Amino acid sequence: MNTEQGLLGSYWIETAPGGEPAPPPSGDLTVEVAVIGGGVAGLSTAWELARRGHEVAVLEADRIAAGVTGHTTAKLTALHTLIYDHLRRTRGREGARLYADSQSAAIRRAAEIAADLGIECEWEEAAACTYAEGAGNVAQLRAEAEAAREAGLSAEFVTGTDLPFPVAGGVRVTGQAQFHPVKYLRALAGELRRRGGTVHEGTRVTGLTEAEPCVLRTDVGVVVRAREVVVATHYPVFDRALLFTRLSPRRELVVAGTLDTDRAPRDMYITPEQNTRSVRSAPYTDDERLLLVTGEHFTPGAPGTAGVEERFARLAAWAGSRFPGLTLTHRWATQDNDSTDSVPLVGPLHPGSHHTYVATGFGGWGLSGGIMAGELISDLVEGREPEWAGLYDPRRLRSVVREGVSFLKHQAHVAKHFVGDRLPPVTAPGPEALAPGDGAVLRVGGHQCAVHRDDRGRLHAVSARCTHLGCLVAFNHAEQAWECPCHGSRFALDGRILQGPAVRPLEKREV
Ligand code: FES
Repeated sequence: MNTEQGLLGSYWIETAPGGEPAPPPSGDLTVEVAVIGGGVAGLSTAWELARRGHEVAVLEADRIAAGVTGHTTAKLTALHTLIYDHLRRTRGREGARLYADSQSAAIRRAAEIAADLGIECEWEEAAACTYAEGAGNVAQLRAEAEAAREAGLSAEFVTGTDLPFPVAGGVRVTGQAQFHPVKYLRALAGELRRRGGTVHEGTRVTGLTEAEPCVLRTDVGVVVRAREVVVATHYPVFDRALLFTRLSPRRELVVAGTLDTDRAPRDMYITPEQNTRSVRSAPYTDDERLLLVTGEHFTPGAPGTAGVEERFARLAAWAGSRFPGLTLTHRWATQDNDSTDSVPLVGPLHPGSHHTYVATGFGGWGLSGGIMAGELISDLVEGREPEWAGLYDPRRLRSVVREGVSFLKHQAHVAKHFVGDRLPPVTAPGPEALAPGDGAVLRVGGHQCAVHRDDRGRLHAVSARCTHLGCLVAFNHAEQAWECPCHGSRFALDGRILQGPAVRPLEKREV
C-alpha cells in the first residue's frame, strides 16, 4: 500500500501473491544450467530448457516476477512504438523483418504455453496501436505503418480508435495480446518444478567464475556449479563485455484505476508524445475494468528525480482528464534498460564466452522480448542458431557504430557522474536541514553519506557510493529509495538492494 497516497502498489503482484518463498539451496549445488533472475526472460529460458530435457535451477535474488516483470503494463505485442521505420534505416529491411518475425513468434509461443498448460492468466487478444494527437506526427506514423507492414505485420494507418478522445492518426496491428504476467510466470515456475527444475528465491548471485563448469557464488553462502549460465537480471550483474556502455536505465511511472466496462478501451495504446503515454485495460470486476496508464519516464537518480511526485501527479491528471469517471486505485513504477541501437542484447555474454549468456536491453518491451530470449538462448545452449540470432547478438558492433550519437550521449551522462560525483559539493548543508521523509547526500566525517530523516525525526545513513562502480546515489522522495544515475541500481533506505546491477548493499554509516 502506498500510504501517502492511499493507493495500492503493483496490481499484478497484489493479485498474485506468491505464498511461502521457495528457499535457497540447502547446500552447494551442481546443475546443467543455472539461470540468474526469475523474471520473464529467466523463467521463459528455464522452462524452455526444462521442457527440452535439461536440468535447470533458477536463482532469484527476491521473489519470482517481483522485479520489472511484476511492474510492467503486460502488453504482448510486436509493435514497439516506432521501431520498424528506425530498424529499416539502421538494420535494413531484413533486420526489420527478423525483428517482427521473432517478436510475433514470441507472442504465439506465449499463447501456446498458456493454452497447453491451462494457465489462467487473463489472456485477451487485442490490437496494438501507436497513436499521435498532433497532426505534425502523422507523417512519422504513416512511415511506421508502411515499415511495419513491409516487415510482415498486419499494420495499417488508422484515424479512428476506441480511445475516448480524438487522435490525428495511428498505426494499428491486430492479433496481439495482453495478460496477467505474474499469474503466467508463477504457473510457469510450477511447471518448471514439475519437470524437475528448481527455483530458489532470496538467493542473490554475487560472483561468477567462467570455467568448466562455471562457478556462481551467492549471498546465502552456497556455491552453484553449472555447465551453462544465463544472466537474465534485466541489467546484467556480470558484464564482461562492458554492456553497461550500451545500456541506459529508464524509470517509468504507472497509475491504474477503475472504469465502467463500457468506457474502457479494449485495444492497447502508446504515444511517444508528452513523454510517453501507454494505455491498456484489464479485467477487474463484473462491470468494471482496470485502466493502466504508463508514462513520464526519467533516468533514475538523475537531476529531476526529486520531481517524481510531480510526475505521478501529471500522469494521474492526464489519465483523469482523458478517461472521465476513472477512480485511481493503484500506482507503481517500473524500470527497464534501453540499448543504444534500440534492439535487445540477447546471446553470448561476451566475445569469448562459450557457456555464458545474457538477455537485456528490452527497452520497455520485455514481455515479448523476454519470451523471445527464452527460445533464442535455449537454441544457443543446444548449439542451434535461429535466423534472428545475429540481430540480437550482444557482440554486434556495426549498429553500435551507427548509433554513435546515442552511445556517446549515454557515455557523457555516465562520465559526468563518474567525474562530478568525486568532486566536493559546492555547498554542504548539514542533516539538520532535512525534513521528515526527506533524504540527501551529505558529507559526514569526510564521507559522502546518503542521509534520510524518518517520520519520527530520526536520522539514518548509508554510504552514498553505489556498490556497482562508485557513482553517487540520489534520493527519490516519492518512492523513498536511493537511486544511482549511472546504471540504475536502486537501494532501500537501509541500503538493501532493490534493483541491480549492484550486488552488494550500501554500507551503514553513523551520523
Ligand atoms: Fe553502476 Fe551505480 S549502477 S555505478
